[in-house]
Amino acid sequence: MSTFQNSLPDLTKPVPTGGPAIYIETYGCQMNVYDSQAISGVLEGAGYRLVENELVADAVLLNTCSVREHAEHKVISRVGEIRHRRKDADLAPAVIGICGCMAERLGDDLRKGPRAVDLVVGVDNYDALPRLLGALVGPGAAASTGKGGQAVTGHRQDAHYVAPPDLYPTNGSHLVTIHKGCDYKCTYCIVPMTRGPQSEKAPEVILAEIEQIVAGGGREVTLLGQNVTAYRWQDRLDFAGLIEQVAAIDGLERIRFLTGHPKDMHRHLMDAIGRLDKVCPWLHVPAQSGSDAVLRRMKRLYTAAEYLDMVEYAQRVIPGVTFSSDFIVGFPGETDADFRATLDLVRRVKYDQIFSFKYSERPGVPAAKLADDVPLEAKKERLAELMDVQQEIWTAAANAHVGDVVTAVCEGAARRPAGAIRLRTANNRKVVVTGAELAPGAALTVRLTGWEGTTFFGEPVPA
Ligand code: 5AD
Ligand code: SF4
Repeated sequence: MSTFQNSLPDLTKPVPTGGPAIYIETYGCQMNVYDSQAISGVLEGAGYRLVENELVADAVLLNTCSVREHAEHKVISRVGEIRHRRKDADLAPAVIGICGCMAERLGDDLRKGPRAVDLVVGVDNYDALPRLLGALVGPGAAASTGKGGQAVTGHRQDAHYVAPPDLYPTNGSHLVTIHKGCDYKCTYCIVPMTRGPQSEKAPEVILAEIEQIVAGGGREVTLLGQNVTAYRWQDRLDFAGLIEQVAAIDGLERIRFLTGHPKDMHRHLMDAIGRLDKVCPWLHVPAQSGSDAVLRRMKRLYTAAEYLDMVEYAQRVIPGVTFSSDFIVGFPGETDADFRATLDLVRRVKYDQIFSFKYSERPGVPAAKLADDVPLEAKKERLAELMDVQQEIWTAAANAHVGDVVTAVCEGAARRPAGAIRLRTANNRKVVVTGAELAPGAALTVRLTGWEGTTFFGEPVPA
C-alpha cells in the first residue's frame, strides 16, 4: 500500500466558527486517510469544528503509522515542530493527540519524556475522542495542556467506523474500508500488532455506505483493507462475492481496491474482476521479494513462480490489467542472489509502479529475532538499483504508450501546468490534459502525448 501524508495546511481558507477547533494530520496508508475522515465525522457530530491550520487549532491530532521506524520518527519530530511553531507565533500550546498505529504500539509511553503528548487514542477507540478532548479543550476543560490527558488503546472486534460520505465529497475515489486488522503473520510486519486481528465490516453496512456515496454524487469507490482479498463474511461471502454485490449498485461506475494479497488472488476472483465491467483492471499485489528463500522467511505463503502464475492468469482474464507492488530490500539474510531474484521478478511482471522500502526492524515482530544483517549501505544500494530497474522498465512501457488513445475520468485541476486537468484511467494511470474543461467525475477520450514520472500528458480526442 502506498504511503500518504496530507498536504500542508491551507492558511488562506476561512476558519469555521463554532466549538473547539481540531486540526487532523494524516500519516501512513489510505486506511488512515479513511480513519481520519471517520474521526472528523465523530468530532463534527459532537460539535467540534475541523480546521486546516494547526495555528488556529485548540487541539492537533496526528493520525500515525508504525510500519517503518522512519515513519514514527517523522511524527515525533512533528510534535516538536508544532510546539515550536505555536511558540514562535506567540500562541498558547495546543493540545496534541496521537491516534493510529503509533498510539496502539506505544500507548502511554507517548505521554512521557520531552516530546510527551496529551492524548493517545488507538485505532479502535475513536468514538471516545469527543469525551477525551472535552476534558482538555473547550468550556470547563483544564486551562493548561498536560492535565486530564490519557491513553486509550486496545482492540475491540466490534469497532468499525463509517466515514460519513456526505461530509467528504471527493473528486476521485471515495474510500470505503471493508475490514480491519490482519490475520497474516508476515514476519517483518507490525500491522497485526497495531491493527489487531482481521474483522470484517458487515456487507450490509458496506453496501449502504456505498449507496449513500452514490446518492451524494460519488461514482467511484476504493475498497480498503490490509488484505481485502481475504474478506470473508460468515463463510457465505468472499471478496469476489462482495465486489459482485457492490458492482450491482446502480449509479456506481468504478470499483478499485487495495491491498490484495497474492495468495488470495484466487482464479474465481480474477475471473470476477475480468467479468465485472465496473471493477478497474488494476491490481496492487505486493510481492515484497522475488526470492523464495526470503519469501519463506517473510512467511508470505507463496513462491515467486506462484506469484508469476497469478500475474499470467490475471493478464489472461482481465483485459488491459496493470500491476503495482511493494518491495522490501535488505530483509534479514537477503543475499545478493536473493536481491537479483527480486530484480528478475520486477523485470518479468513489468509493473506500472512499485513502492520499495529498506527493511526496518520493528520491535516485537517475528523477524526481530533474526539478525538485521544486511548493512545499511547495501540496503541503500539495493534500493537504488531496484528503483533504477523499475525506471528502465517503466520508461520503455511509457514510451510505448505514447500515441495510445485512452478513456480517463477527471479528478480535478492539475497542479501544473496552469489550467490543466488531472484524470485517471481505469488501470490507474494518471493523465494531465490541457485545453479541456471537464467537471470532476466526467470521462474524456485522450491521446497520450508524453509522460513524466508516473504521469502521462494527453490531448482531448475530438468526438
Ligand atoms: N520494513 C520495511 N518495509 C515494511 N513494510 C511493512 N513492514 C515493513 C518493514 N518492517 C512495507 C511492505 C508493505 C508496505 C506497506 O510497507 O512492503 O507492503
Ligand atoms: Fe502486514 Fe503481511 Fe498483513 Fe500485509 S498481509 S498487513 S504485510 S502482516
